[in-house]
Amino acid sequence: MRQHVNPLSSFFQVERDLPAPSELFVNPELPLHLDIGCARGFFLLAMAEAHPERNHLGLEIRHPLVRAAEAQQQREERSNVRFIFGNANVSLQRWLESIHQLRLELVTIQYPDPWFKKRHHKRRMVQPELLRWVAAAMPADGKLFLQSDVLEVITQMLEAVEEAGCFSELDGGSWLAENPLAVKTERERYVLDQGLPVYRRLFGCAVPGESLHNPLAEQQNAG
Ligand SMILES: C[S@@+](CC[C@H](N)C(=O)[O-])C[C@H]1O[C@@H](n2cnc3c(N)ncnc32)[C@H](O)[C@@H]1O
Repeated sequence: MRQHVNPLSSFFQVERDLPAPSELFVNPELPLHLDIGCARGFFLLAMAEAHPERNHLGLEIRHPLVRAAEAQQQREERSNVRFIFGNANVSLQRWLESIHQLRLELVTIQYPDPWFKKRHHKRRMVQPELLRWVAAAMPADGKLFLQSDVLEVITQMLEAVEEAGCFSELDGGSWLAENPLAVKTERERYVLDQGLPVYRRLFGCAVPGESLHNPLAEQQNAG
């Protein structure tokens, strides 16, 4: 299977529709964990088992991986995890606006495609705009967890966080030695098996979207 798709090609610039929360989850009122770039969903399926108190939504640009993840979800009969096909940089803004009534408790972006060549940097997924969309959909205690094994890539991700201006450090400004989540991703397990470095950071939402959607919360934040 091809390893990468070009997210800037016209096929991946088409906005996709997100099903209503009630079509996605049996209990749509549970807090939501969104994993962007979820690949075959092994991480998210295990997180769904470890955290039945949340719903888990995986977003992935490679359709065959989404189909494989959905098939596994059906085999496991888990009602708190779903996978959707789409380009995060194209579809996520409207999706997040449409689910603002859900509690977006956690967003994970782990080991995004590195796109090493300079002329390909614009294909990198973690951009300030995308992070602003995420923050705008988060409550005040929403968290953003980032990981990469490539220093240059996590540095660019952190520059995007800084430029977005919506997140505050929850890790004292240094790499987390341990993964705070219950489950490691496929890429993370491979990297750790090879003895390679892993760079992890955790942020809290500093400009919560609930104040955009809820004037009462805005007053409370101001007070
Ligand atoms: C290197 S893999 C890491 C997968 C997984 N997060 C892990 O840590 O094992 C990056 C994943 O992000 C997906 N991806 C890349 N660009 C994307 C985009 N713009 N929107 C959604 N998914 C994307 C890729 O197809 C790939 O499955």
